[in-house]
Amino acid sequence: MALLKRSSPSSFSPVRYISLPGLVIWVMVTYIAVDLGMHLSSSEHGRVHKQVMKELQSSLASRFAEKAAAEDESKLLRLDGEEDEAARCNSVEAHMDVFEGQARKPQDPWNQLKWGLPPADCRVKGHLIERLDPLNNYRRGVALGFTTDLDDKTQIEHWFLGTKEDLNQARRRVFIDLGANYFTSSVMWFMHRYPCDFTEVHAFEADPTLFKFPPGWDEERNWVEPERHGWAKIKSRAGHVPSWLLSRIRYYNKFAGVIDNASSVNITRFMKHELKLKPEDTVIVKMDIEGAEWPILREWIQDPDMPKLVDELFVELHYWHPDNNWESVKQWTREDATRMLADLRLKGFYAHYWD
Ligand SMILES: *[C@@H]1O[C@H](CO)[C@@H](O)[C@H](O)[C@H]1NC(C)=O
Ligand SMILES: *[C@@H]1O[C@H](CO)[C@@H](O)[C@H](O)[C@H]1NC(C)=O
Repeated sequence: MALLKRSSPSSFSPVRYISLPGLVIWVMVTYIAVDLGMHLSSSEHGRVHKQVMKELQSSLASRFAEKAAAEDESKLLRLDGEEDEAARCNSVEAHMDVFEGQARKPQDPWNQLKWGLPPADCRVKGHLIERLDPLNNYRRGVALGFTTDLDDKTQIEHWFLGTKEDLNQARRRVFIDLGANYFTSSVMWFMHRYPCDFTEVHAFEADPTLFKFPPGWDEERNWVEPERHGWAKIKSRAGHVPSWLLSRIRYYNKFAGVIDNASSVNITRFMKHELKLKPEDTVIVKMDIEGAEWPILREWIQDPDMPKLVDELFVELHYWHPDNNWESVKQWTREDATRMLADLRLKGFYAHYWD
């Protein structure tokens, strides 16, 4: 019973068995053991550290290799994507990816909230470009009820090539305005809105009552007699045109066409051989020439030089449309116009409707 009692845990107290010198020895032994342990572990740690670093390096290397492989794969996928797109977009029909014939979605932000257009399925010059919408392409802002301004061009501004590439890098930056009309709605609109500082402007307007510069045109003489040649209208709508810009403008009182004669200029010859334009120049062309665009564009889609010379093309294709009812261009249908624009894009012209 006594033995049982003594060994019972409740009555055991270690302090009773430890004397003071014993405690000192115990503390010292413990200290030495801990110190030795720490020493060993630090050299151990050195080995462990090296080992860990080795593992880390090899794991990083393998992770880098994995990442590089993944990047290669995604590049390949991207290339595949580009190849897919190139294959898919290798026809006029692919570029005729239009809204027409499709029922309008009840909630369509592009037609109900936004003025612009969604991107087309096929890129041109490697860039996204607006989808064609032949149903509403004629005066789009007005057709959709966003504005009453017949000259409104808001929908085109989202898609300027100059917002995707820095066209100011070129030494020669040329704007060619075929059918310059009123100076303000065309030349000045581009000077105001287009993100490029043009070094040359070549403006063709066959109708002198629309756009006529007196000989020796300069700022002083042009603005002082506003009654002459409709200058009052020009002055009130254009505001100030600085002299440095005036000095860059050349005006041609001629038709832009495919042949040279007293009243017409072969515009392809003019661009290639007179202006001597090169692919490295920035060249923006706007064309609104009442039906004369058809023979010019038919030549351009056959001429592989032209999409290299022309960076961006804005063209009003004249055809019969229920909204304009132009009898004089009845031989061309909306389908012809869409097909021509799609063909231009297929051939590499970054081309938009201008109307
Ligand atoms: C010049 O050619 C155009 C066709 O591009 C024609 O309409 C015009 O009558 C011609 N003018 C002269 C003066 O021959
Ligand atoms: C117009 O100019 C182009 C380019 O120089 C040329 O190939 C074409 O034959 C010219 N057209 C006519 C009718 O002379």
